Amino acid sequence: MDKEKGDERGVSRRDFLGLAAVGSVVLSAIGALAATLRIFKPDVRYEESKRYKIGKPENFPAGTAKKLDKEKVFVFADDDGIYAISAVCTHLGCIVYKTDWGFQCPCHGSRYNQEGKVIRGPAPRSLPWYEITQTVDGTLVVDATKEVSRGTKYIYA
Ligand code: FES
Repeated sequence: MDKEKGDERGVSRRDFLGLAAVGSVVLSAIGALAATLRIFKPDVRYEESKRYKIGKPENFPAGTAKKLDKEKVFVFADDDGIYAISAVCTHLGCIVYKTDWGFQCPCHGSRYNQEGKVIRGPAPRSLPWYEITQTVDGTLVVDATKEVSRGTKYIYA
């Protein structure tokens, strides 16, 4: 039997290689077309907002210390006002927890004092304080994109 010509039951090697070559070209063309069409789709990634509505000021009487888990922020209130401190460790991003003396990171042991200032590394910098504003309807908003200097508190009338 002649292998190049094949037989009546199957495809010859030449035909098979020809089909494989055509198939490769078609698949490559489809891939190239898909890649080209992807150019027209904007490569936009939507991030969650880092502005958090936290409620009315009356929900934060002096002495309040709340951890907002989803927002990864602590909100405190004292007689001087309300303030927000990040709960994200400045070392590698673990979430710190509150202690009597400040904040402790469970991952590598960084410690911060009550104001978020580093008192033991490896954290390279203090926990940031975030801006707090109030909307026209009186809701407080923590803006985690705006750091304020340590000690800055929102004072409401
Ligand atoms: S992530 Fe907090 S000490 Fe490393």
